[in-house]
Amino acid sequence: MCGIAGYVGDDNAISRLYTMLEKLEYRGYDSSGIGYICNGGIACLKQVGEVSCLSPLIMGKSSHCGIAHTRWATHGKPSEVNAHPHLSFDKKWAVVHNGIVENATYLKEKYLGDIVPVSETDTEIISHLLSIFCPDGDISSFISAISCLSGSYAICSVHENMQRLFLTKKHCPLFVAIGRCESAVSSDISCLADRFDRFYELLDGEYAVVESGRVTFYNSHGKIIHKDSQKMCKNTSVVDKCGYIHFMLKEIEEEEDVLERLYSIYDAERLRQELIDIDFDRIDRIMLVGCGTAYHACMYGATMLSWHTHITSTAHIASEFIYSRPDLDDRTLVIAVSQSGETADTISSIELARKKGCATLAITNCTSSPLSRLCHATLDIHCGKEIAVASTKAYNAMLQVMYFLSHYLSKTPYLPLCHEYFDKAIYDDVDKVSMLLKDKRELFILGRNLDYITAMESALKIKEIAYIFASPHPTGELKYGFIALIDSDSVCVVFAFDDALLPKTLLGIEEIMSRGGSVILITCLEIPRNIQDRLMCLISLPVIGTELSPIYSIIFWQKVSYRVSILRGNNPDKPRNLAKSVTVE
Ligand code: M6R
Repeated sequence: MCGIAGYVGDDNAISRLYTMLEKLEYRGYDSSGIGYICNGGIACLKQVGEVSCLSPLIMGKSSHCGIAHTRWATHGKPSEVNAHPHLSFDKKWAVVHNGIVENATYLKEKYLGDIVPVSETDTEIISHLLSIFCPDGDISSFISAISCLSGSYAICSVHENMQRLFLTKKHCPLFVAIGRCESAVSSDISCLADRFDRFYELLDGEYAVVESGRVTFYNSHGKIIHKDSQKMCKNTSVVDKCGYIHFMLKEIEEEEDVLERLYSIYDAERLRQELIDIDFDRIDRIMLVGCGTAYHACMYGATMLSWHTHITSTAHIASEFIYSRPDLDDRTLVIAVSQSGETADTISSIELARKKGCATLAITNCTSSPLSRLCHATLDIHCGKEIAVASTKAYNAMLQVMYFLSHYLSKTPYLPLCHEYFDKAIYDDVDKVSMLLKDKRELFILGRNLDYITAMESALKIKEIAYIFASPHPTGELKYGFIALIDSDSVCVVFAFDDALLPKTLLGIEEIMSRGGSVILITCLEIPRNIQDRLMCLISLPVIGTELSPIYSIIFWQKVSYRVSILRGNNPDKPRNLAKSVTVE
């Protein structure tokens, strides 16, 4: 859950690596570092905090070969000593690593003898193993060292005497691009797209030795293998705020374009082609798995598929799914939903599903991701790079694709895109609601049925970027327990977009108000005057059909969460303790 980079070539490796780190920062931002070959040795620059904290350290430094890392801490607190690169005891090797070495403790006991680790990380053992197994930097000894590791990793390393990068990976992405007099390596192709036209994707168990302008690939037995390069898709390089203050705001503003694009792509014929490897006639059960926001998208997908296909469809939190002894067989379709396609828990769910003979489908924003590679078929959510840690446009896009999928399977027509939701005027009240919430310590967020999914997603959004504790509940559950918490300090946000459920939702609102609680009601429905008058705030949004409503009702709340985050002095793009891609279980 970190970003790694490498460079070897005619240019100054240090400034090139720094630029790559800026683009990789969404993968972790608690510390960063650059290691480079200089005067026949390896020098390291490390700093706690965002990548920009490295900038004063790199001034005036130059090298033609180096590695870099931006970290999201797993083992050991964010500190300079725990930041990567990690040097071996004899300083011959430096390593940057994304993933987790699960047997680090065992390896330390077995191999380190008198060597005392300087950091608390699992990564440090890799550099020591390289010096123990591979003091001279030959590939077969490198492979022997790496074969001791269990867990997940993308590794980029340098040896003091060589202008070369040594790479390998398992379950974490790693890409290499080769130019005329330079080569670069990164966890994310978008860091390579502005300078290179083609790239190679390293696969699990493969190794590479990268020199300026050339790369040699090896299999796990040390035999040279041929790999074909792939054409770089140039729009993957758009990691730019394009004039917006934050990526999150830009990404919310892109939502109309994203939905429009999806409507233009996913007609029935396109879905037929993309799903050709899945025999839906055999499927009698669909299980959707995802984490965080993607799990909420699964909840929507499961509801849509159940309503439209009559195939039993259920949503599962990926980190629980693998331990829940799910009943999987070759008549089960497991749909993995993941913006990044890198989330370790989601990948593990699909690995389990594959073992049990299930059909598998990825719904993702990254068709070159490990998840997509594992699944029989992929539906691309086509929303362009999402950089802000809090997912926004990817959520709407996942819902939209699942809406299309359920209608495709039931051969029913799509309802059209609702442009009214992108009229800026309907969001005039974002500031008003944000001001009401900015000093609150806790919130209840309620909804019934599909609106409950919106409540779940809303609670996650405001927790992760505004750090307000928000507790989502189905409105009907009120009287079974949490009403005990309602008093005159309570604020409840209620979503109501389902006509048929409105009378019961209004009853719930009455129950809250009669215990002194305040209600912010977000709805597209007509609300009786006598209730309107007693609300803390009524947000009336354009009329939208129930099925599509979760795709649109969340937009108001995404904007509120963004605004509250700013009002509380936070950086919504980089919330504390979080990272965009969670590549560890
Ligand atoms: O890349 P994925 O969609 O698999 O990511 C899953 C979660 O990590 C992600 O949705 C997370 O909950 C976001 N921070 C939510 O805004």
